[in-house]
Amino acid sequence: MNKEIEQELNKQLNRELYSAYLYLSMAAYFESINLKGFAHWLKVQAKEELGHAMKFFEFINNRNGKVVLETIERPKTDWSSPQEAFKDVYEHEQKITSYIHKLLELARQKNDYPTENFLAWFVAEQVEEEAQSYEIYQKLQVCEKSVGGLFNLDHHLGKRE
Ligand SMILES: [Fe+2]
Ligand SMILES: [Fe+2]
Repeated sequence: MNKEIEQELNKQLNRELYSAYLYLSMAAYFESINLKGFAHWLKVQAKEELGHAMKFFEFINNRNGKVVLETIERPKTDWSSPQEAFKDVYEHEQKITSYIHKLLELARQKNDYPTENFLAWFVAEQVEEEAQSYEIYQKLQVCEKSVGGLFNLDHHLGKRE
């Protein structure tokens, strides 16, 4: 596999691990303010991010590349409100999307069709992740002044499978 692509795939593996770390940290914040539904949703999301990291892990190995695990950045530990937290989720997902797109551009530049094909799944997944997080962020804006609305949303998010 092309060395530059191998390096970039490893960087993305690290970013997926960081995503899991960030959402787990956010889950801890929601636990601390007793919004257990939000915490549950974020714990499920953290597991999904670990799954994404493992897809990169397996793909790098399958291409006879070498996985190199780097330090995972320390995530933020506190947010001023649920709304602020989900603004961060949405913005983080947008950033991840742009990294996936850059990786795809690189794969195309190098005529690396397997990597291009591998990344197609992530392109679709990011559309989902942005839509999901934006929806929750918007709902939080609507129920900013309604405690009932917030608890309702918490209950709803607690049902995520
Ligand atoms: Fe991800
Ligand atoms: Fe994500």
